[in-house]
Amino acid sequence: MSGRRVALVTGAAGGIGTATLAALARDGYDVVGVDVAPVTGPAVESHVVDVRDAPALAALAADVVARRGRLDAVVAAAAVVGGGAPLWETPPEVLDELWEVDAKGVWTTAAVTVPHLLAGPEPHLARFVAIASAAGEHGLFSLSAYTTVKHAVIGIVRGLAADLVGTGVTAVAVSPGATRTPMLTATAALYGLSGEEGIAELARHQGLRRPLEPAEIADVVAACCSPAGAALHGSVVSADGGFGI
Ligand SMILES: NC(=O)c1ccc[n+]([C@@H]2O[C@H](COP(=O)([O-])OP(=O)(O)OC[C@H]3O[C@@H](n4cnc5c(N)ncnc54)[C@H](O)[C@@H]3O)[C@@H](O)[C@H]2O)c1
Repeated sequence: MSGRRVALVTGAAGGIGTATLAALARDGYDVVGVDVAPVTGPAVESHVVDVRDAPALAALAADVVARRGRLDAVVAAAAVVGGGAPLWETPPEVLDELWEVDAKGVWTTAAVTVPHLLAGPEPHLARFVAIASAAGEHGLFSLSAYTTVKHAVIGIVRGLAADLVGTGVTAVAVSPGATRTPMLTATAALYGLSGEEGIAELARHQGLRRPLEPAEIADVVAACCSPAGAALHGSVVSADGGFGI
């Protein structure tokens, strides 16, 4: 038990998750990575756990606290994308999978970790951050299921933030725009786009007129996890480079 502040990141093998490991490690956290894929990055430990598996995630969170003595920050980044057709042509199974991973996975992550944030030595510095999306605030065509579940992520954070009033522990949603990760490539493919041109097309709607880099989103997440992040409690932080301007 080192006494160092501890963060847990889901989706830690992905583009934004890996960058978040690095940003939180830089800020002095011992970071625990969780993903269904092997995690490569500056995590002090990593675990292959599916966020749909509530008992496994609960056991992992309890084990981390038992071994490391505390849990101070949780970033729920695990998600999948799906769609590529109008709502009326989208099989309900697409919504089911996205609901289970992207929405209920964030709910479960909060349910099994927030009690440890509340019970920690410095709850006024403890942070829960869920990665939502610009699709949590806007309707994206041919992505109705993803749009639905990302709106739900924002609902989860707002409900959680209301439940955390007065505890010191904060809950925030960060909504990235088009960010250069495997998910962006997969999203481009849903629109029949590929390569740099496909990525550029998805980023065309951002005021920056370029894709965001995972490290840029990770820096926003790290700011939410910092002491100054207290002021963001209950907020949806748009990290989309100016969506639609
Ligand atoms: N890249 C973008 O343009 C973009 C835009 C807006 C929001 N986001 C959101 O950012 C977050 C990170 O996405 P990313 O772009 O880094 O994508 P990514 O595909 O690179 O990473 C997602 C990670 O989640 C993991 N994962 C998937 N299902 C899982 C499960 N059931 N249990 C545990 N891990 C699971 C994957 O293995 C992967 O490593 C996601 O919530 C995504 O919806 C991304």
